[in-house]
Amino acid sequence: MKVIEDLQSWRETRRGLQGSIGFVPTMGALHDGHAALLQASVESDDVTVLSIYVNPTQFNDPNDLANYPDTLDEDLKVAQALGVDYVLLPRYADIYPDGYRYQVVENQFSNELCGSNRPGHFTGVLTVVMKLLNLVRPRRAYFGKKDYQQYMLVRDMVETFFMDVDIVGCETVRECDGLAMSSRNKLLSKDARREAAKFNQTLRAPVDDAHVRAQLAAFGFQVDYVETRGNRRFGAIVVDCGEHTVRLIDNVEACEVA
Ligand code: PAF
Repeated sequence: MKVIEDLQSWRETRRGLQGSIGFVPTMGALHDGHAALLQASVESDDVTVLSIYVNPTQFNDPNDLANYPDTLDEDLKVAQALGVDYVLLPRYADIYPDGYRYQVVENQFSNELCGSNRPGHFTGVLTVVMKLLNLVRPRRAYFGKKDYQQYMLVRDMVETFFMDVDIVGCETVRECDGLAMSSRNKLLSKDARREAAKFNQTLRAPVDDAHVRAQLAAFGFQVDYVETRGNRRFGAIVVDCGEHTVRLIDNVEACEVA
């Protein structure tokens, strides 16, 4: 496995690569959800590229960015064990030589759900994903369905800009109690971690969205949104851990309301 920090040397390496390239973009703090994406790529593609880049332009809260977990040494061990071929660790100046003057803006769905309380979040996500896809030029790129809105927006962007890459959505990987795997789970206190299981369990309840919101609030979570769109119910909550808060998102297949 080769770890590459310098994008110039990556671009030279990329020119020499043959076969199908599978790409998993991440912000590190790898968990079993990321492992599933990497496994899917290793199984389907000749070469697997992982990027680890905590993208500042998608954080609208500076504390969230400052607290984002950094477990690089562990991440590299995980990647090596899974058979990743290349790990890209770019720096801000290399990713944003334009100082973020150029942006990929979607004007509708990106302002809803997670976008409604996180202005600019999806512009940051789409811009960095476009840049990374142009750098890696993969046949397939793998995204987790835990971030379903992100997955849909990336799929839509790729179609809109005629980009030659398949966006593969992989199922959410969950802890035994149903909590969706997320890098942010590492930030939950012990008590908050136990309580957080109620988020997924409540989202699955056969009651309408208003009841789910009320139930989550009664458990002590700050509810950002709970909304059913088509056959999925989406939710986001903020969990109070005493000294800090942790924002969690999830989505489940919508069930018949009793
Ligand atoms: O899902 C994530 O970890 C990030 O939003 C992504 C896709 C790596 C872009 O920074």
